[in-house]
Amino acid sequence: MRAFAGRRVVLAVSGGIAAYKAVEVCRRLVDAGAHVTPVLTPAAKRFVGEATFSALASERARLSLFDDDDPIPHVTLGQQADLVVVCPATARVIGAYAAGLAGDLLSATLLATRAPVVVCPAMHTEMWEHPAVRDNLRLLAERGVTVVAPEEGRLAGGDTGAGRLAAPESILAAAAEALAAGPQAPVRDMVGLRVLVTAGGTREPIDPVRFVGNRSSGKQGYAVAVEAAARGAKVSLVATVRRPLPDSVDLVLVETAEELRAAVVDRLPAEVVVMAAAVADYRPAAPAADKIKKSGEARTVTLEPTPDILAELGRGGQVETLVGFAAETSDVLANAEAKLRTKGADLIVVNDVSAPSVGFDGDTNEVVLLDAAGRTAVPLTSKRQVAQAILDRVVALRAAR
Ligand code: PMT
Repeated sequence: MRAFAGRRVVLAVSGGIAAYKAVEVCRRLVDAGAHVTPVLTPAAKRFVGEATFSALASERARLSLFDDDDPIPHVTLGQQADLVVVCPATARVIGAYAAGLAGDLLSATLLATRAPVVVCPAMHTEMWEHPAVRDNLRLLAERGVTVVAPEEGRLAGGDTGAGRLAAPESILAAAAEALAAGPQAPVRDMVGLRVLVTAGGTREPIDPVRFVGNRSSGKQGYAVAVEAAARGAKVSLVATVRRPLPDSVDLVLVETAEELRAAVVDRLPAEVVVMAAAVADYRPAAPAADKIKKSGEARTVTLEPTPDILAELGRGGQVETLVGFAAETSDVLANAEAKLRTKGADLIVVNDVSAPSVGFDGDTNEVVLLDAAGRTAVPLTSKRQVAQAILDRVVALRAAR
């Protein structure tokens, strides 16, 4: 099946006798080219040893929320997955997922992922027919989860009836379909909010053809704008570069710090402002009207400070939740803490731009979210995932007011 080639699949195995059949599902996914990470509940381990899954899968089986190699496995696995298949899914795991409970690695992974999820229930007939289980599965299906109904057949203890895990072929077919359908519908938790985002690096003219600038590509700010729009916000984006964007986003292109400031102020008030742009701190004090001619002489360009837009917004009272960034190369957290204190921001997104693949220009970033309540690390991941983490924090901060 070509659908799985190169895709990251979390195979989440919960504790029922059908766990032995998940071994076959694991093998077939690997054969189809998927990178399979097995996640076992403690009960699943009692039915099939972790060594079996570790041997057949693409990496060792994961069992615990506490892992020496990964400080936050409960979010890493879910965030990195292209697909999560819960096979078998017991009544307990289904209930926890429907209720939003995360007591073990498997349940936490289900809550932390935005990838498609396929749930394959297997249990005794009485449990399968219980209204609580049915209601939970209906709820999950309404949220976009694929449920692969069990079959009739022989069950544990010699009973026969509905509740036997679906055949591996059916599970793989449903999984391929879910992968093709794409990620889960985003949570619409920003409906009714005006979100103003800035992106890209400003250019401060030295003369009509030269400028003082920086290496910002605008990717991180665009990712925030796209994510906010997907979550239902009314988004304005003030940017120095043009990149693909949904039609619903109001885009204004600017070049200098002064123009960026004017465009931002023009769009206030807003419930949320995210200042992802790399705004110049200094600009040439007297840009030349004509192109400066080459001469053998050294030249001095006098720089003057630009307006500190973030600090101005922090003082202004027209923004309910203000998010600033901090691009640092040394004393990273101390400098960012100082920005949180002095700029009047509610949240500072800190990136150590001296680290490889972090910050400017690439498609990935690694940040720490800093607010009055503390720090949350977001390990190296895509800029879209970083945007999701930022907006999750914004929504949580607003809910806690
Ligand atoms: O655009 P990419 O290539 O995807 O790269 C992403 C990024 C590295 C640009 C982004 O993650 C980032 O760190 N953006 C902020 C860069 C920056 O200007 O950091 P700073 O520490 O110098 O500024 C602190 C904050 O003050 C920022 O929110 C900035 O927008 C704001 N600021 C800065 C100067 C100024 N005159 N006015 C401001 O409002």
